[in-house]
Amino acid sequence: MTECGNSSASAGTGSGGSFHSMWRELLPIGRHSGSHGYRRFAWTGADTECRAWFKEQAEARGLTYEVDRNGNQWAWLGDPAQGDAVVTGSHLDSVPDGGAFDGPLGVVSSFAALDELRSRRAEFAKPLALVNFGDEEGARFGLACVGSRLTAGQLTAEQAHLLTDGEGVSLPRAMEAAGHDPEGIGADPDRLARIGAFVELHVEQGRALDLSGDRVGIASAIWPHGRWRFDFRGEANHAGTTRLLDRRDPMLSYAETVLAARREAELAGAVATFGKIAVEPNGVNAIPSLVRGWLDSRAADQESLDQVVGGIEKAAGEYARAHGIDLDVVRESFTPVVEFDHALRDELARILGTTTDLKVPVLGTGAGHDAGILAGHIPTAMLFVRNPTGVSHSPAEFAAEDDCVAGVLALADVLEGLACR
Ligand code: GLV
Ligand code: MN
Ligand code: MN
Repeated sequence: MTECGNSSASAGTGSGGSFHSMWRELLPIGRHSGSHGYRRFAWTGADTECRAWFKEQAEARGLTYEVDRNGNQWAWLGDPAQGDAVVTGSHLDSVPDGGAFDGPLGVVSSFAALDELRSRRAEFAKPLALVNFGDEEGARFGLACVGSRLTAGQLTAEQAHLLTDGEGVSLPRAMEAAGHDPEGIGADPDRLARIGAFVELHVEQGRALDLSGDRVGIASAIWPHGRWRFDFRGEANHAGTTRLLDRRDPMLSYAETVLAARREAELAGAVATFGKIAVEPNGVNAIPSLVRGWLDSRAADQESLDQVVGGIEKAAGEYARAHGIDLDVVRESFTPVVEFDHALRDELARILGTTTDLKVPVLGTGAGHDAGILAGHIPTAMLFVRNPTGVSHSPAEFAAEDDCVAGVLALADVLEGLACR
């Protein structure tokens, strides 16, 4: 099995060739030499390089390039004012030490699918746009899908102004430093009104396709999910001279809460993860004064998610009281369950049923996406490409060359079916 970007072979299509050369160009950007993972955080140098790459690809194809008020990049074929546009794309930013595929696979596949349609001499009856949504992962400012949330009005300009990164830099200042004027951020209903359908192709972040032996799938729904910040405040003191009995050590209640999260998730058939932590003063020989842990939790339905998070909060409160610790819990973001548009989903299945002999299963996911944000506003669908290990948000994330090309061809078929005569 060869990784897409490490092969010069194509599957014998125009799109395969352009896919591989684009993939190779993008691969080195933002890859850390030690971890080999990607650090493409919103509005940093690596992100700016990815965005320059998107602009170049758009211009090289004679597409009309624009950056919207919220910093999302668009490449248009045809006149957006005509309305009922078909849009495809994903994101180019990453989690800390993320993989190469989560996001970029959808963006690169969008350009490659357009190349494929041009090689088929497809005639477009509707405008087509390719998009790179800004700050999907929320790695820098703590909130996922900032670009699509702003556009959809799910994050207001006032709320966005309050977002800061770990160094205290606000989102507007970071945008400005990267050359984007933050003045006009906020809901963009006129833009959404021009879109008839959005289709996001994404690497699968689980093993369902691998287990069913299929290359490509269609999304049914996204689990409800959110992020909560737990602040455990105790008292800093000397690690060598403070008797155990005299300590107010927030690390203890935090550690017990991590174990409670695992238990609650198991009970509800859900997932709960403390993946990020900040400790003050963060000294080896100091009892911490503050332990701040971020919980990410997701479940198949709202009731289960409420049960898990409620259970974790209750346990955290009890552990905190037992150790003389003050606890604050803040919900930082939340996305309710998303059911993708049934008519569009069926249309994708119908199109792929006639254009390919692939079996294309319909599957749900626990991962969040810009498509999930837009689904509340416009007909939205997703295509997944097989990931043989299911690993994601890690440098080990992978999709095989042939599967990536199958994804490009499936996306081209879908776009042709939706946008062409
Ligand atoms: C984004 O990939 C998420 O699901 O957190
Ligand atoms: Mn992701
Ligand atoms: Mn993604």
